[in-house]
Amino acid sequence: MWVFSIVCLQLALQLVGASGSEMRTKVFVYGTLKKGEPNHEFMTDPATGKLWFIDNATTVDKFVMFVSSPRNIPFIVNSEEKNEGYQIKGELYEVDDQKLAILDDIERFYTKIDIDVTDSKDVIHAAKIYVLPKTYPKLEANKTMNFDNYYNGIEGRWYIEPNEKVFDVPSSDWLEEDESTESTISF
Ligand SMILES: *[C@@H]1O[C@H](CO)[C@@H](O)[C@H](O)[C@H]1NC(C)=O
Ligand SMILES: *[C@@H]1O[C@H](CO)[C@@H](O)[C@H](O)[C@H]1NC(C)=O
Repeated sequence: MWVFSIVCLQLALQLVGASGSEMRTKVFVYGTLKKGEPNHEFMTDPATGKLWFIDNATTVDKFVMFVSSPRNIPFIVNSEEKNEGYQIKGELYEVDDQKLAILDDIERFYTKIDIDVTDSKDVIHAAKIYVLPKTYPKLEANKTMNFDNYYNGIEGRWYIEPNEKVFDVPSSDWLEEDESTESTISF
């Protein structure tokens, strides 16, 4: 009988351990990971962890968002010029540790920073967001390429899939080209 009790106790402890270790992290997505966008499958794939949609949300602070590079990738610049750009519209999720690790890998060329977002009921949430680590002053100065609510095909900028699912970040070189040489832009 006591053996059975110990087994039960161990099982119970394992269950507590399993649920207790499940950390949830709030993540705000603004680009191709949103619903209906080209990489949303990375969010929903049950093989790569769990996620819970919370709400549509908007950043409290303004950010500069571009859709650029030969692949028309949407990205937010971690601008030194705070209060430039727009309050960005996107989606707020909670993810488990496994899904967060996958997102960290997908967004490995980006920096994960802490921001505040407002949901549709005006509740403020602290959330993670992936932004480009560098600043691009010339690109940031061009307001015609700056958006507040991404969707694939915005201003004719259709997302181009990589050969492999690698979320490469454009080098600063071609970002310079991008703004000076129209012919290098593939849209
Ligand atoms: C979020 O925004 C999308 C696009 O505007 C809309 O279709 C959807 O109903 C919204 N979802 C919620 C939960 O408000
Ligand atoms: C801003 O970007 C657009 C689109 O690439 C381009 O047509 C325009 O010439 C750029 N403006 C400046 C001032 O560089």
